[in-house]
Amino acid sequence: MATEQQPAVPPVAALLHVLEGFWTARAIYVAAKLGLADLVHESPKSAAELARLTGAHAGSLRRLLRALSGIGWFHEDAEERFGPTAVTQALRTGVPGSLRYFAMTELGEEHYPAWGDLLSGVKSGHLGFDHVFGMSLWEYWTRHPDQADVFNRAMSEVTAVLEPALLQAMDCSACTTIVDIGGGRGTLIASLLRTYPAARGIVLDLPHVIELGREFISAEGLIDRCTMLSGDFFQRVPEGGDVYILKWILHDWDDDRSVAILETCRRAMSPTSRLIVIEAAIPGRNEPSFHKFMDLNMFVMTGGRERSAEEYRALFKRAGFELTRTTSTPTEMAVLEAVPKSVAS
Ligand SMILES: C[S@@+](CC[C@H](N)C(=O)[O-])C[C@H]1O[C@@H](n2cnc3c(N)ncnc32)[C@H](O)[C@@H]1O
Repeated sequence: MATEQQPAVPPVAALLHVLEGFWTARAIYVAAKLGLADLVHESPKSAAELARLTGAHAGSLRRLLRALSGIGWFHEDAEERFGPTAVTQALRTGVPGSLRYFAMTELGEEHYPAWGDLLSGVKSGHLGFDHVFGMSLWEYWTRHPDQADVFNRAMSEVTAVLEPALLQAMDCSACTTIVDIGGGRGTLIASLLRTYPAARGIVLDLPHVIELGREFISAEGLIDRCTMLSGDFFQRVPEGGDVYILKWILHDWDDDRSVAILETCRRAMSPTSRLIVIEAAIPGRNEPSFHKFMDLNMFVMTGGRERSAEEYRALFKRAGFELTRTTSTPTEMAVLEAVPKSVAS
């Protein structure tokens, strides 16, 4: 185990590794954006051929691919052609385990400039995205449908990756109606409706997302069992659900706004309805966690925050819920179940 006296990695190497991480992330963004993993999947290709296919500059693309091949994201053969490796799969489009859209959005046109504001945000406490773009992220997505499409597909990719673990941790077998609040394109509800064939679904999200979601749910053959509803979860959510799911919603908002969302849900719920919140419960001091950095991402992008299980318990209490069960999963995501307080007591 590393101690302060004997670091596992020399400090200079540790710092250089971090610097390289920044360059690597941006290089991966370019590879994702240009769709390079799809293009080399069938057969390796030269940088010139890839440049012709993507409209890029051949010499510069070669340098990008050489760098990424040095860290295992592509493989350069003796004829200077670039092919896939095992991890390149994660950058392909629409295959199991793909996070291509996630890489495009998290490292791309919105996140990159907003993260550029981090120092200023840490000094003043202001919200980076709003400072740089002059509007909230949600308003920005409404005004930039193509970029919103990338973001919503990214959310679907992450949900698909988490799906087996989440389905194991949730029991909706007694449910007639499952409501997914801020359910995006409907990836989670589609899995739940396939798992519970007697259940019906309702997805509530912003109008531009619901439009995309209708296409997705229709293509999945589930539109007869799922209502896709445009709305605002600060105003009203549909009544009549046995279970109300909030997945990766509360981390987008500060405590007051999170309580407001929870209260809207509570008003729509019957005494027998359950609330299921799917979020990471961040661990304590010095524990490594992807979501401790996701917390910074939320600070910069939406003004939200990641929370510990105890912080979720307190949030639920403020909104009139009682946390009844926390199920951790092999991922960092946990399934937190709560019921309206009068029912619990
Ligand atoms: C981080 S995404 C999570 C999406 C989905 N639950 C998932 O986990 O993949 C947050 C979602 O909240 C939706 N959203 C944001 N503000 C909203 C509002 N006021 N009313 C309804 N949905 C909203 C966004 O459009 C987006 O789909």
